[in-house]
Amino acid sequence: MKNILITGGAGFIGSNFVKRMLEKHPEYKIINVDALTYAGNLENLKDIDHNKNYTFIKADIRDREKIREIFNTYDIDSVVNFAAESHVDRSIEEPEVFLTTNIIGTQTLLDAAKNHWKINPNDKYCRDYKAGVKFLQVSTDEVYGALGETGMFVETMPLMPNSPYSASKASADMIVRAYNETFGLPVNITRCSNNYGAYQFPEKLIPLMINNCLNEKELPVYGDGMQIRDWLHVKDHCSAIDTVLHKGEDGEVYNIGGNNEKANIEIVKLIIDTVREKISSVIARSESDVAISDMSLQGAKRHSNLQPDTSNSEPQTVSKPQTTNHEPNLINYQLIKYVKDRPGHDKRYAIDNTKITTELGWEPKYTFEQGIKETIQWYLDNTEWIDNIVSGDYIKYYEKMYSNRG
Ligand code: NAD
Ligand code: DAU
Repeated sequence: MKNILITGGAGFIGSNFVKRMLEKHPEYKIINVDALTYAGNLENLKDIDHNKNYTFIKADIRDREKIREIFNTYDIDSVVNFAAESHVDRSIEEPEVFLTTNIIGTQTLLDAAKNHWKINPNDKYCRDYKAGVKFLQVSTDEVYGALGETGMFVETMPLMPNSPYSASKASADMIVRAYNETFGLPVNITRCSNNYGAYQFPEKLIPLMINNCLNEKELPVYGDGMQIRDWLHVKDHCSAIDTVLHKGEDGEVYNIGGNNEKANIEIVKLIIDTVREKISSVIARSESDVAISDMSLQGAKRHSNLQPDTSNSEPQTVSKPQTTNHEPNLINYQLIKYVKDRPGHDKRYAIDNTKITTELGWEPKYTFEQGIKETIQWYLDNTEWIDNIVSGDYIKYYEKMYSNRG
């Protein structure tokens, strides 16, 4: 039995990871600690929230007393730290919370782990810990900085972060490394490329563009749209973290990526084409359903014993799926709007995944072509999930970030 503390488990990747762990490791207890900031959403977890192996605690990773209490109450033996402020644009607007959550929050968790796992709690130099414990820090490829036209990030590269977000994540990596070197705390660090998939907050490129397409709104592309990101399906990221948690060598860093570089503008055009195609085919299907339904109504009238009793009811209508309220021809490249670039915008990321694939045997399962289609379909099928998010504070956020951007 393992008692795993997952922080930030109500966010995009964390919620996908919580579900994976409950499904793949039914013998583990999962304790999800999340402060439920704007990015945390318990709706992401509603299908598992009654699982007997799952506990949710609303808490801030910077709250030392609460975190200590959680380690004691649940006898935590592994930590997977997802909790973070994660959006680069927000870090440019308001850096401070990135430093307190991403750095101090991580250090607070490390202290709690060190104190709870030490064999001899009274010895401040004790480097012996209970068997099987591990602290896994979920980091990002952005800590390496930006690449030129060639080359890839490898684990041995110096860290050269460019945004307040990536600088805070790099600082956290350094602290995790220091706890391993100085105190002997068992740790791993994973550095993954850009994720996509279900439940991603629509401030990030892919869900933002899908949502704007569905609302026939402008698609804001920063600069010339030629920046390159290396995309990985969130479920592949989760399987990689699971692999590192179980097989990672103490103190090691593992890059995670699926060799899938795309320019932003390529992604935006692919989203436009796919959303338009999917909506057109739903409309075609629904029109043929209406035609069939009209025919069967006429058929029913011809056979009076099959005729529905409509004496006390409204005229019969076939309800159309929500996506058919759209006019597919309006979802086209004219929605693209090139806007002022992100300051310090990293030109290119590319992950060399040789270490995790050769040493730990991990492989991504999704091709981008399959993954992006499924992801777009998920957002079309879950318009209520998006609608709940893009009201209230999101509208204010959108105004602040995108009006006056040129
Ligand atoms: P997210 O913003 O969707 O979720 C972050 C979660 O952390 C939210 O549920 C939020 O409520 C919680 N949180 C924030 N501050 C907290 C605090 N002080 N205490 C407790 N909980 C707090 O982020 P995400 O995209 O799921 O990313 C998760 C992690 O993975 C982050 O550490 C991020 O740096 C890393 N990462 C993300 C990507 C990506 O493409 N999204 C890629 C590589 C690494
Ligand atoms: O590389 C991993 C990182 O990927 C994670 O550590 C971060 O948490 C995650 O947010 C992500 O960072 P990016 O800045 O790469 O992701 P974002 O979705 O914000 O932007 C992707 C690219 O798209 C980037 O080059 C900026 C551009 N972009 C983004 C938005 C939101 C636009 O052109 N227009 C937009 O409106």
